[in-house]
Amino acid sequence: MEIIENSFFFKIYSNIDELSNEDKQLVQTAILQLKNAYAPYSQFHVGAAVRLIDKDVYVGCNQENASYPLCMCGERVALYNAGAYKPNIPVESIAITIKNLNSRIDKPVSPCGACRQVISEFEFRHKHKIRILLKSDGDEVYEINSIADILPLGFNGTFL
Ligand code: THU
Repeated sequence: MEIIENSFFFKIYSNIDELSNEDKQLVQTAILQLKNAYAPYSQFHVGAAVRLIDKDVYVGCNQENASYPLCMCGERVALYNAGAYKPNIPVESIAITIKNLNSRIDKPVSPCGACRQVISEFEFRHKHKIRILLKSDGDEVYEINSIADILPLGFNGTFL
């Protein structure tokens, strides 16, 4: 028997001004998306912005449906938007922001399991790590180096 420890490091910026200009812009673009979210059922808005390595930015926000399982997360809308426009350009970073209309959430919120799997597919597809920037109502911004850090032992196409 063997025990494997799997840990990861991530950065916590105390506010958005500590980010590089391009990252700050990406987070601000994601924040702008919050107002476009269609979330009448959960009242939980998610805004996302994806930057490709060619520096193009694609946005997304969550899209809900009265048939609840059809709801689509903001991260996936942004990634599929990027994939539709620039299928061959690797994703460099994704900024994810949230706004719960019913309560203040200070801690950065990280993507759900389904979105982690989709971000993982984009990393796998392009063989390029995707940085993840997270911001909620509080000032702090988290920076995670790769989806593999928050989706250890992930499933990917090499198993198929
Ligand atoms: N949501 C996202 O957009 N991203 C996530 O990572 C988690 C949840 C959305 C889906 C739904 O519209 C609302 O937030 C509440 O779950």
